[in-house]
Formats: sequence, C-alpha cells, structure tokens
Amino acid sequence: MAPPDKKVIHRIRALREKINRHSHLYYILDQPEISDAEYDRLFDELSNLEMANPDLITPDSPTQRVGAPPLEAFKPYRHTLPMLSLNKATAEAEFLDFHRRVLELSASAETDIQYAVEPKFDGLAVEVVYRDGLFLLGSTRGDGMVGEDVTLNLKTVNTIPLRLMGNDVPGLIEIRGEVIMNKGDFAKLNREREKTGEPLFANPRNAAAGSVRQLDSGVTKKRPLTMYAHGIGLVSGKTLTHHWETLLYLRELGFKVSEYAGICENAGQVKEYYDRILNLRDQLPYEIDGIVIKVNEFALQRRLGEISRSPRWAVAWKFPAQQEHTIVRDIVVSVGRTGALTPVAILDPVRVGGVEVRRATLHNEDEVRKKDVRIGDTVVIQRAGDVIPEVVKVIASQRTGTETAFLMPDKCPVCGSKVERPEGEAVHRCTGIACPAQIKENLAHFASRPAMDIDGLGYRYLEQMVDSGMIEDPADLYFLKKDDLMNMERMGDKLAQNLLDGIDKSRKPGLANLIYAMGIRNVGNHLANVLARNFGSMDNLAAQSIEDLTRVHEIGPIVAQSIHNFFRNPKNIRVLEKMKEGGVVFPVEKSEVKEAPLAGKTFVPTGGLDSMTRDQARKIIEGLGGRVSSSVSRRTDFVILGKDPGSKSDDARRLGIKTLNEEEFLALVGR
Ligand code: IVH
Repeated sequence: MAPPDKKVIHRIRALREKINRHSHLYYILDQPEISDAEYDRLFDELSNLEMANPDLITPDSPTQRVGAPPLEAFKPYRHTLPMLSLNKATAEAEFLDFHRRVLELSASAETDIQYAVEPKFDGLAVEVVYRDGLFLLGSTRGDGMVGEDVTLNLKTVNTIPLRLMGNDVPGLIEIRGEVIMNKGDFAKLNREREKTGEPLFANPRNAAAGSVRQLDSGVTKKRPLTMYAHGIGLVSGKTLTHHWETLLYLRELGFKVSEYAGICENAGQVKEYYDRILNLRDQLPYEIDGIVIKVNEFALQRRLGEISRSPRWAVAWKFPAQQEHTIVRDIVVSVGRTGALTPVAILDPVRVGGVEVRRATLHNEDEVRKKDVRIGDTVVIQRAGDVIPEVVKVIASQRTGTETAFLMPDKCPVCGSKVERPEGEAVHRCTGIACPAQIKENLAHFASRPAMDIDGLGYRYLEQMVDSGMIEDPADLYFLKKDDLMNMERMGDKLAQNLLDGIDKSRKPGLANLIYAMGIRNVGNHLANVLARNFGSMDNLAAQSIEDLTRVHEIGPIVAQSIHNFFRNPKNIRVLEKMKEGGVVFPVEKSEVKEAPLAGKTFVPTGGLDSMTRDQARKIIEGLGGRVSSSVSRRTDFVILGKDPGSKSDDARRLGIKTLNEEEFLALVGR
C-alpha cells in the first residue's frame, strides 16, 4: 500500500483537534459553537479518511469510542489507592459533630475550617486512568479495593476525554468521579424498555450502573451517560495542595466538574450551601442525594487521616430520602371524572423528601396485583419532584400473615352503580350516569382555568351544589340565582355576587376552551385546540364522521371514536342545548389551518418567559397553527429557551434543533 500522503495526515490531525475541541465545548462546557450537523460532517470526514487509511487510526481518535466485541466477563481491577467511602450526616447536628472533630484534630489555632463543597451525585463511582494524557483504563469502584475493568464501556462516555487537554498533562493520573444518567433520559429509557417488554430500571442510579456494567459496550454507547469528576487518586509530577485547586485542574484537563462546587469558609456557610442545594434538588436534571463536604487543604486532610476506609476529612450530608417505608392501613377507591376507579393506599403518615405523605396512588387493579400490595403491608413509597407519591414495592419479608388482599369493588363506592372494566383497558369504571363523584370531578374540570375558567368556583362549593341537588350537570350553573347560592355554607352576599359574575364571564368562552370543558374522553387541552382550529365550531365538530375526524393530523381512531361517541350521547346533547339556553355563546371561529403561518411546526417551550405564561405562549403558537409539545425529539422544529431552561436545552443541542430566546420567539409570532 502506498504511504498516505502528507495532506491526509495533516487533515486527520486537524479534524481530530477540531472534533475534540467541539465535543469539549458541547459536552463539558455546554457552549457549542457549531451545529450538530456540522459536527457530524467533521466526524464523518474523519471516519472516512481513517477507513481509507487504517494505519493512521490512533486509540485516542474520537472515532474510537465504539466498536469492540462484547466481553465474556469483566476483569477485576485493583485500585492503586483505595477508593474510600464517606461517613454520613443526616442532620445539621451530625454535620456539626463532624466539624467539631475536624477542629479538634486539626490542632491548630484556627477557629474555622475552609471546606470545598459539592453535590453528592447519585450514580456509579468510577476511576479513569490516563498515561501520557491518553485514556488507558476505566474501572468501577467495586468494594473500594477491587473493582471491575470497564474500560471499553467508559470509552463510550462522551464526558470522559480520550486525550487530556491543556498544557499541564501529567505522566500518570487517576481521576475519580461519578457516572450518572439524567432524570429525563432515564424516564425515556424506561419508556422504551416498557414498549419492548424489557425490565424497567428502578431509578437513574440503577440505570447508570446497569449501563456501565454492560458486557457489550455497543449497548453502553447508546445510553446517555455523563461523568462528573470529583477527585483524584495517584498523580505524577504535579503538585496540588487543595481540593478546590484539584477541581479547577480537572476542568483544565477536560473533565466535567459540578457547576455547583464551591468553597465555604465556615460551618455556617456550609449550612447555607446545604439549604441552597436542597432547594435546587428537584430542578436539577440529575439526581443528587446530599452534599459532600471536604476539608480543602490537603496538608490538613493528611493530618486528619482516615479510619476504616472513610476519611476523617470529609462527610456526606445527606438530604431527606425521597423513598421511605411505611404501612398501608387501607386501600380505598377514588372515582374520577370519567368514572375511572383508582385504588389509593392510605398510609401511616410519613415524611418523604421533606413533605408529609398520607396517600399514594396504586394506579389500577393490575398494578396492585403486580406489586402484590395488601392492606397491612410495609411498603416503600416514593416521591420524585412534584409527582404524586406512589407505592414502589412491598417489603415482603415484613409480612406477618395478617395482611389482606385488595379487591376491586363491583359497585361504585360513591353511587353504587355497577363497575365495569372495558375490554383492553386497565381501568375499572363506574357505569352510573349520575354518579356524584363523577359529576363533581366533571364540574371541577368544567370550571377549571383551561376550560370555562370560572373564577371563585372552588371544589368546596361544587360539592355542596351537587350534594344538595342544586346542580346535576355543568349547564345548571348557568341557571343559578343568588338566593340559591346564599343557601350554601360559608357564603355571603359579596361572595355570591363574585361567583355569579364569574359564571357570567364564562358565558363567552373560546372554542377550544369550550371543547376542552366538555371533558370528552381522550381530548385534552392540546387536542381541543386542534379540533377548534380544524372545525371552527361545536356544531361542525359534532357533525363529523369518524373518518372525517381521523383525517386531521394528530387525531387517531381512538380519539375520533371518543368524539363521535360524545356527540351521539343524547345526554351530552341535552347539556349543550341547556348551556345555550343558559346564555352560553357557542363561538364560531374561522378554521384556517392551511394558511396558518406556523402550520406543521412543533415548538417545545422550556424555562420561564418574562412577557407571558407558558399557557399564553401555547395559545399564541396554536393560534398560528403550530403545535406545542413537552419533550424534545427529532420532530421538534424549535425549542423556546426561557429562564433556567434545564435539560431540554441540552436535548435541543444534542439533536441540533433550532433554539429561540424569548425575543426571537416574540419576533417569530409577530409580537
Ligand atoms: S468524594 C473520600 N464527592 O459517594 C472521598 N464522592 O461514599 C471520596 N460521590 O461512591 C468521594 N458524589 O463516588 C465524593 N461530589 C462527590 C460525590 C461522591 C458522589 C460518591 C462516591 C462514592 C460515595 C462515597
């Protein structure tokens, strides 16, 4: 074979440098300078050149993050220096104990200690070793002394450089950190696994660990993993004196270091830092379970030493768990707007992630069976972000034999009507057409902001109105007189008038609000807008055949069937007519999908906007024929970046989707 020409060698070198720079800008600094498409072009050019000149491939080439055959098993790897664990503090007093011990043992005249602080990542601890700047080996922590050699897998993680950056690269360095999976990526991965029938991961940490401990690195490569570096083991020929300095050095070498790492000058500042990070917890794209506090100065660290594999110079101050154990006292059934029966576990009250929890949803009967939750069981419950608490699993070993199984009632617990489980559905439904539970939930939906937006009509009033027989369906609201209202508890002249005014104001709804308010099964806010735009009036919508309906993009056969059924139900028609009699104006709006300027475009808003609420932005987009979605995918056309945009902006970058700031968005929609 002819020796490769000089130009090719130069081009390959230039491409590698360029790609490394841009991947650092993208993955580590979150400041991409080129689009994903441009990046892909560079990458493809390099791959092609290397394919034609295989002799020129080097192990640190960005193309070498994949492509090894699966392993039979991992080789054990003995760490040169043990990977220590951390002592834990679960309350301020315990942290203060730690601080006092550090002060005592430091035996200096100092009255305070400088600490380096950072979030405690909830992932998998790993170590990566570099010789002469080249990624040599990666391992899991294992028992701290011996872990597993997961080199091939860690090579696929984009935040782990294959070649160290900067002008100060040591001959040998061992870097320690945590491999994590973002919450959003974790949820997506589980959704995909659910579809393909694979077992689900319990949490992002298990997903990250499972991904790193894959014998086939091709699988790891597909998992979105990130490594945050938080310390070093051995390092040759480089003198570091403080942990903070080490973190800055790690950044210089090209690693991702927590953007929330900081320095505290005393215990009071540590407490402030703890509170700040705890407050941020739910907003972070990844899970953290506390903060790690480390004596900043290495000389002092050495003096403090370690006992039984935990340093005396560091402590993990843990956040309240988001999972707790408690006892299921009862399983009751709640009836929703559509008559769906949801089993709900009544729990011994327990604080989870700082919030008291007394009830947790069990979703449906299959879920109760699958998890085998019985009354009297000790269960693990979890609350993640602002999600409704749920039962994760039963601690079967705590059973005494007195637990009783839950049976789905065959009669509605509220109205006594027969309960049915329609074929192919997971939910049981109350068949009663006059079920007060359904009526109340339905009314609450009808009155809610995105529907008829009736000011002042809270659930407390709705309950009284239904229980006293004052109203039976939403249309009855439009016939209420002040005298009727004055019969209710906690009602006065002024409140009654406000309520009547609120009802009156709702007599002129927008078409989409009106459609949404009807509570048609499977028609949420977004589809209500789609229907309003396409059909222009309630009468026109009611007249459509299933076939006509499915012709609309986004309307599938199930939704079409629900809409069709709704308008074929005489009870619903009667309510619509009664609403008109009560003075509700059914709007006729021009349907102008074809000419709409944003037709066919999908937007994903993220973060807060200054000039409007998210809901208003959605209305504007949909009014112009566009579509709003909550997650970024390849089909997204624009991501609107508000304040604190979070992981969706990363998704946009990763997928090369155009982003708009608030100003650009306003310009686009002509505001
Ligand atoms: S420092 C001796 N910093 O927590 C200090 N560890 O119990 C060693 N971890 O598995 C660790 N976030 O991987 C440190 N910011 C952080 C961390 C962190 C998570 C993990 C670590 C280890 C465990 C120690």
